[in-house]
Amino acid sequence: MRLHGKAFLVSGGASGLGEATVRGLVEEGGRVVIADLNQGRGAALAQELGEDVRFSPTDVTQADSVGAAVQLAVEAFGGLHGAVSCAGIGTPGKVLGKQGPHSLEAFAKVIQVNLIGTFNVLRLAAEAIARGETDDEGERGAIINTASVAAFEGQIGQVAYAASKGGVVGLTLPSARELARQGIRVVTIAPGLFDTPLMAGLPEKARISLGEQVPFPSRLGRSEEYAALVVHVFENRMINGETIRLDGALRMAPR
Ligand SMILES: NC(=O)c1ccc[n+]([C@@H]2O[C@H](COP(=O)([O-])OP(=O)(O)OC[C@H]3O[C@@H](n4cnc5c(N)ncnc54)[C@H](O)[C@@H]3O)[C@@H](O)[C@H]2O)c1
Repeated sequence: MRLHGKAFLVSGGASGLGEATVRGLVEEGGRVVIADLNQGRGAALAQELGEDVRFSPTDVTQADSVGAAVQLAVEAFGGLHGAVSCAGIGTPGKVLGKQGPHSLEAFAKVIQVNLIGTFNVLRLAAEAIARGETDDEGERGAIINTASVAAFEGQIGQVAYAASKGGVVGLTLPSARELARQGIRVVTIAPGLFDTPLMAGLPEKARISLGEQVPFPSRLGRSEEYAALVVHVFENRMINGETIRLDGALRMAPR
């Protein structure tokens, strides 16, 4: 897919990996709807980036809310060609913690945002993309999900997060197989450790120590490196139905 003039929706686009994705897509000539809970940051970013970027206050767990963001892309840009799910939360908790068993509500909340929210974006974006024209190779668009290396090596205290990201990996192939008929690809990126506001909450020492666990390059990933892969996946038609690790050969230890 050539990105110039194409329309995209980025959930979680107001911060971190999502924000870098919005910037990366706009640099390539794309037009973007930022779909995020954070109104202040989302609206400010849209304002900064100009007329090719709109903000739609969105809760990915709500059908109507994501529907309105998709609708904004269709109305403002004349259609939709791609979506990137970056909205996510990472509430820690052990199966059996000091305070007792894992809260069922906390577990359900992580699944609701990370897994069901991703599926909500996927299904409604697919509907809008499927209404578009095919290009000369029969492609209508592509949808990119964000998992995590925790889908494969979840650490102690990450049971809900790892389960939610494992679900995202699991839905990738069946979605790609089904949507092939519509000329829509589905790909998931599984980042390792990236330096985003999510990580900025940690003390500097902890961030350096996390970075040192990465074999090479021995540092936290940069959001722009994630965005560069998003751009490549949109551009490269042969990437489909796959989860791509982006982690500097990191394999997380149990704790
Ligand atoms: N940073 C990392 O090291 C890392 C590693 C692996 C995976 N990931 C995943 O990448 C994605 C982005 O992470 P990040 O580090 O950029 O985080 P971040 O906290 O910087 O950004 C997440 C964004 O999602 C938005 N959001 C949260 N809940 C939402 C909801 N219900 N509806 C709409 N928007 C919502 C937040 O407002 C925020 O803008 C997440 O899915 C995260 O699990 C991050």
